Amino acid sequence: MNLKEIQKLEKRYYANTFTRLPVAAVRGKGMYLYDINGRKYLDMFAGIAVSSLGHCHPEVVKAVQKQSKILIHTSNWLYTLPQLELAELLVKITGMKKAFITNNGSEAVETAIKLVRKITGKKEIIAMENSFHGRSMGALSVTWDEKYRKPFEPLIPGVKFVKFNNIEEIENSITKETAAVIVEPIQGEAGVILPDDDYLKEVRKITEENEILLILDEIQTGFGRTGKLFAQEHYRIKPDIMCMAKGIGSGFPVGATVFRCDDFKPGEHGGTYVGNPLASAVAKTVIKTILKEKLVRNSERIGDYLLKNLKNRGLNAHGKGLMIGIDVKNGEKTALDLIKEKILTIYSKNTVRVLPPLIIERKHADEFLSAVDEVLC
Ligand SMILES: Cc1ncc(COP(=O)(O)O)c(C=O)c1O
Repeated sequence: MNLKEIQKLEKRYYANTFTRLPVAAVRGKGMYLYDINGRKYLDMFAGIAVSSLGHCHPEVVKAVQKQSKILIHTSNWLYTLPQLELAELLVKITGMKKAFITNNGSEAVETAIKLVRKITGKKEIIAMENSFHGRSMGALSVTWDEKYRKPFEPLIPGVKFVKFNNIEEIENSITKETAAVIVEPIQGEAGVILPDDDYLKEVRKITEENEILLILDEIQTGFGRTGKLFAQEHYRIKPDIMCMAKGIGSGFPVGATVFRCDDFKPGEHGGTYVGNPLASAVAKTVIKTILKEKLVRNSERIGDYLLKNLKNRGLNAHGKGLMIGIDVKNGEKTALDLIKEKILTIYSKNTVRVLPPLIIERKHADEFLSAVDEVLC
């Protein structure tokens, strides 16, 4: 089959939901993906900040094989050890109190929204302009972009959007009914927008003073992506609730909501698959491998190298660790030009997003920079 035939197959059978790049991936190994013609690409977006250990990392393959021979699923009617071991690990690495495992990021946000409503009895949530928290109805309600929201309204009521990096707007939006503030420490889908130095500290202070819960969406920024295990460490804050997904599974669909506020009661929340043994065993392995292979430090090191070299080329590059945006004239055109150079990136409007696997080495960074020279310099 060739790309044209695959595109025909999609048009005929798949829901019309995705804007895809013109590459049909069939195989991956480490930092590289191979398309249907055997063409090799350097993967500089890691399945949208997901494949933290690169493609088909031996430890991930081993964890899938090992657990799938023992037990794949039982539902939450029964106790299973991998789920509880993953929860224990998440609580230990975050300093939180409890964890609820989910299948993806949107579910982690849904869980957080339900939790804040339940424990505060209040209905209002303050979210940020340019935020992205997912596409299920609750997560979509705190997601900013009209193009994602409009066709599906009415969404859940009581969400107020304020400007990111503007403390005054938060202060002015707080009422007696405010349950929580939800914020990405670094806005990802918006094009890698960094908070001002003291912004998140101020947000934490205001939420504490007003007894409002703070939900930090670390779905994209977590597990080493920004050069710290969690981006909140850059800004020295501790939220009440953390949402995580993406890098936690290195490609296996799994997420989590980790919290130190009050808990649910049995029956108030759940899911057939959530925290199933296979997903939990893989996530546990991924986290341990990120720590064992010192990939958080690698993210910081190679991220700094990339950022410095992009800036040295006169490009408007911004980000932390391996979460980098490069502002260009036309994001789509630049991503397509980079594909011709056998480099895969994604884009948000006029920003090319660089989110490579955390296993990236200096030679891969140089390979990317050479392509940048061809396309952008
Ligand atoms: C910050 C953030 N929150 C939530 C989500 C939604 O996660 P998922 O696509 O796994 O549902 C994303 C996905 O891009 C994200 O970047």
